[in-house]
Amino acid sequence: MDLSNQYNKIAKEFSRVHDIGENSNRENRKVFYSNLDFIKPGIKLLDLACGDGLDLAYYKSLGAEIYGLDASEEFVASAKEKLPKSDIRVGLFKNLPFENNFFDVVLSKYAIQTSHDLNPVFSEIHRVLKSGGIMMYLVTHPFRQYFEKRDVKADYFEQKVVEPRILNNSIIVQEPTHTMNEYLNEFLFKNFDIQFFQEYWDTAAEQIDGRKYPGYFILKAKKR
Ligand SMILES: C[S@@+](CC[C@H](N)C(=O)[O-])C[C@H]1O[C@@H](n2cnc3c(N)ncnc32)[C@H](O)[C@@H]1O
Repeated sequence: MDLSNQYNKIAKEFSRVHDIGENSNRENRKVFYSNLDFIKPGIKLLDLACGDGLDLAYYKSLGAEIYGLDASEEFVASAKEKLPKSDIRVGLFKNLPFENNFFDVVLSKYAIQTSHDLNPVFSEIHRVLKSGGIMMYLVTHPFRQYFEKRDVKADYFEQKVVEPRILNNSIIVQEPTHTMNEYLNEFLFKNFDIQFFQEYWDTAAEQIDGRKYPGYFILKAKKR
């Protein structure tokens, strides 16, 4: 699975639907935005997987000094079109092109789950955050990924690549599955203080077999 190819292919359609109409991501964006009271004017903020820059524009309107990073050249091009003066780069989470202790805040929405191994991602976020800095992310819930294995005998603990249908079935992507323990891991407890954890139903996510289950969770933690 080549990340930049996968997201280059869906970039146009994603940008077309994610903020308008019944297929949009508006509901979870509203939830994420309602937990951002720690964004103060002048802080250095990184959006990991900034997509087309819609969220970056909002963080900028709150007064943050914004930086963006995304694997997809197409997404970065449209983010740069919206925010021509901002520092928005093509890159991968496992090797962030930023100095140690640089950011006050690192945010990420619906993207961290795309890495097969989450440990390098969390250690990079930790490296670029200042001490006392905030990491807050929204990721696909492992419970949802379990259903996305689409097999009644599926093994929760075995990593598989699944094909979630996102934005009300309008787009299909490929993502590796994760367990909850891969997020709530030793590294997190050792290096961060968790300040917020909440599970949510995603109105725009496919509900397999008509069940109701959490589509994503949000975790906020402060670097020690
Ligand atoms: C579903 S989109 C979400 C975009 C944006 N965060 C939002 O909420 O609108 C996922 C984005 O994550 C990016 N992405 C996924 N895995 C990545 C990785 N390992 N490194 C950098 N970007 C990644 C993709 O290129 C894509 O733009």
